[in-house]
Amino acid sequence: MGVAVQVEGLTKSFGSQNIWSDVTLTLPPGEISVLLGPSGTGKSVFLKSLVGLLKPEKGSIILSDADIVTCSEAKLYEIRRLFGVLFQDGALFGSMNLFDNVAFPLREHTKKSETEIRRIVLEKMDMVGLAGAEGKLPGEISGGMRKRAGLARALVLDPEIILFDEPDSGLDPVRVAYLNQLIVDLNAQIDATFLIVTHDIGTARTVPDNLGLLYRKHLAMFGPREQLLTSQEPVVQQFLNGRREGPIGMSEEKDVAQVEAEMAALAARGGDQHNGVGPKGATGGDAVPPQLEPSPGLPERRAVRRRQERVARMLHTFDPATAAAIRESLPPDLLARADAGVFASSPDVAGRHRSPDEPPTSVLPGPRGQW
Ligand SMILES: Nc1ncnc2c1ncn2[C@@H]1O[C@H](COP(=O)(O)OP(=O)(O)OP(=O)(O)O)[C@@H](O)[C@H]1O
Ligand SMILES: [Mg+2]
Repeated sequence: MGVAVQVEGLTKSFGSQNIWSDVTLTLPPGEISVLLGPSGTGKSVFLKSLVGLLKPEKGSIILSDADIVTCSEAKLYEIRRLFGVLFQDGALFGSMNLFDNVAFPLREHTKKSETEIRRIVLEKMDMVGLAGAEGKLPGEISGGMRKRAGLARALVLDPEIILFDEPDSGLDPVRVAYLNQLIVDLNAQIDATFLIVTHDIGTARTVPDNLGLLYRKHLAMFGPREQLLTSQEPVVQQFLNGRREGPIGMSEEKDVAQVEAEMAALAARGGDQHNGVGPKGATGGDAVPPQLEPSPGLPERRAVRRRQERVARMLHTFDPATAAAIRESLPPDLLARADAGVFASSPDVAGRHRSPDEPPTSVLPGPRGQW
């Protein structure tokens, strides 16, 4: 199971230019999270901070009992091996064929034999649908293939956390659909913690368990997908529906009067035009679209049940629209427990540490003797 990443009060500036302040969020283990935000809001800076390539001046990033912000170089080197990172352009070495590019981290960071390296490289290239392309140079293949090669390289050290920086930029819509399915399928196979930075609304609406939005140098919101997809917050609605109307302008933030005039005009038109990325809800807002599931033949994502337990436990903290959307996603046993108030007194809420191997209590089918 992937590890949780706990970010608390994180603040990053370059000289006198503050990028973002007081960012607090937890990436739940094994779940897929998406981070959105206008260009230049510091999403890539955030990813680089997570892997320790940039040093925030305040706050902490805790994973596996270490704080990436303050730990020693030696510890950082060790922790970095938990991460796989897919950089925006794939960041492949142009003069190396795909095999050598994907093998690179193994040759750099491990003492594995060439036979073992070959086995791992071929396995990962097969996983991302690049079997047979090992001999190609990055310049000879399409952008989509380069991204998949970058992904294969991010996978070779068996990461617990994978960071994707705009994996879908520059791809046509069909390739984006394939890539999204690949991401969900990978998550089902390896159960690692995923964080994806994207500008693609369709991806944001259908792939992740959790959504976040960086805006005006702060994390405007981060939570279960239902929370952002039902949010009435103008900036969240603007982003998730790809509208011109709202607080985000072309090059700078708009003034309040202009935003109010636009929102009034939008309401008078009866809400968004259908933009093809999801069904319309009864209230004029977009309904929460179904989440992508792993391809047939693959295992269930183990994060799904863990997440259901997590959000069932938090159910009472959400506003009614979010709670209603979450309820629709919960199986009857968890709904019954949430309604019976079982979670409020559950020892997990009191902070009992659950071992990763211990099954959640509610999946046990009665007394153990029945197994
Ligand atoms: N190493 C650096 N030194 C100084 N400033 C930097 C550095 N890296 C990034 N910045 C600045 O930080 C800000 C945020 O950049 P970042 O690349 O994280 O934005 P982004 O949200 O990823 O944007 P996009 O969606 O366009 O990729 C920008 O103003 C950028 O110029
Ligand atoms: Mg970026």
